[in-house]
Amino acid sequence: MFVCSCFGVTEEQVRSHADAGACTPRQIASACKAGTDCGGCVRRIQALLGRGACPRRQLADQGAPVLAELPEAA
Ligand code: FES
Repeated sequence: MFVCSCFGVTEEQVRSHADAGACTPRQIASACKAGTDCGGCVRRIQALLGRGACPRRQLADQGAPVLAELPEAA
């Protein structure tokens, strides 16, 4: 099922980016552009991340370094 129809990004793709350490919609956008066109999918991405798609969220919340800095999406 598509999460971002502008870029054809699926829920699976968002989950795999989250598994790789992307814990915020901005990091998802850096990985696959989802959310950088109409923005209509950002809430869906937030919901996916909020449902535990990011296994490292707890570490991130504790201040652990999760990722090397990704280039920020504009
Ligand atoms: S649906 Fe994702 S940017 Fe438009």
